[in-house]
Amino acid sequence: MSLRVMVRVFRDEEKLSPEYVPSSLPHREVELRLLRTFFQGVVSGSSALSTRVIVSGSVGTGKSALVKLFGRLAEEEASRRGVRLRFLYVNCRISRSVFTVLKRMISQLRARIPERGYSNEELFHKILDYLEWNEAYAILALDEVEALLSKEGGEALYFLSRIGEERERVLRLSTIFIVRNPEIFDMLDKSTRSSLLGNIIHLPEYSSSQLYDIVRFRAGEALYPDVLLDDSARLIADLAGERGDARYALDMLWRAGKYAEAEGVPHITPEHVRKAAASVYPAIRREHLEYLEPHERLILLALTRALEGGEKAYVTTGELNRYYKVVCEEYGVKPRGYTSFWEALQRLDDLAIIRIKVKSGGARGRSSHISIPGIPVSILKRELESILERETFHPFSP
Ligand SMILES: Nc1ncnc2c1ncn2[C@@H]1O[C@H](COP(=O)(O)OP(=O)(O)O)[C@@H](O)[C@H]1O
Ligand SMILES: [Mg+2]
Repeated sequence: MSLRVMVRVFRDEEKLSPEYVPSSLPHREVELRLLRTFFQGVVSGSSALSTRVIVSGSVGTGKSALVKLFGRLAEEEASRRGVRLRFLYVNCRISRSVFTVLKRMISQLRARIPERGYSNEELFHKILDYLEWNEAYAILALDEVEALLSKEGGEALYFLSRIGEERERVLRLSTIFIVRNPEIFDMLDKSTRSSLLGNIIHLPEYSSSQLYDIVRFRAGEALYPDVLLDDSARLIADLAGERGDARYALDMLWRAGKYAEAEGVPHITPEHVRKAAASVYPAIRREHLEYLEPHERLILLALTRALEGGEKAYVTTGELNRYYKVVCEEYGVKPRGYTSFWEALQRLDDLAIIRIKVKSGGARGRSSHISIPGIPVSILKRELESILERETFHPFSP
């Protein structure tokens, strides 16, 4: 028997897992209402048109959670009205081709449609037949659409959003596309773009005080009362406020709770939060740079060139792309296309080496601003150049 008294920190740890969707999302009430307004016709079964909405925002702004919560509420509301509505959710980072997206749709519908031997188009029509036959509607939420775009190009989106229009029947499938930045649609041809870009709901990054409310709310669900000291909640909110990122905040909360539990302390103290923060995103180390793909290194080098001088904190993606092309020329390699460029940027953002902030305003609507938060540009540049120089083999052979 252990003499140590079991301290109780977590009441329901699952409620801090990334998959869990809370029953409400503080500070996303307006966006949730907007979604419900856009899909009113679909939910009441009175619309003959299909609705297309894009939800955009940086990492951790609650895109996935918002859309999943909306989907759940929409299904409930439709069923109260006697409308058969199914919410289908597919993450393109996992299902990276149109075919696997269709497969996921079929399995979520639990429709008995054989998948083999059909073209994508035939398969899609089978899904629409199935909906018609069952007098049902579906909302397809495609998350992390960038992954699909980079693998299959713009036609994939065109296909998924326009097919069925020639069927001259009630359109039973509506779509929600979730992306970090609607800029990725710039590479699509004009007609695809105009058909997609109707309704955009952009989720701004959370402020520290919003993150504070979110942390308190989620702590209320997942922890025993009074476990989280108020100063600790504030510290988490401040640390995550720089990124405006709720995922980072909740990750820190969970880790800080784990430290408290491991130490047998019934409170999450600021020191636990500091330990958690140090373990979530450690500062960039040289090894990290070695692991990067050659083009990711070149993009990073381009970024250091753009921010050199130390007076600018941000550079737009367009500007960075120009610097990138110059750097490629210098190293005698062919620059990657815009989608791959974007994907590399997102990977660097995921690794917390760079930070992509989507800002609204300006003539062209939204634009992305890239910064290097964690390391002096001069040091990063020196490291990168020495790695690139040291590589005696040609790292870019096809
Ligand atoms: N307004 C909010 N209230 C409570 N939890 C939130 C809120 N926004 C995001 N979260 C939580 O933060 C985490 C990240 O959100 P997520 O939807 O995955 O962000 P994104 O898809 O934009 O990267 C999830 O665990 C989510 O439940
Ligand atoms: Mg997401």
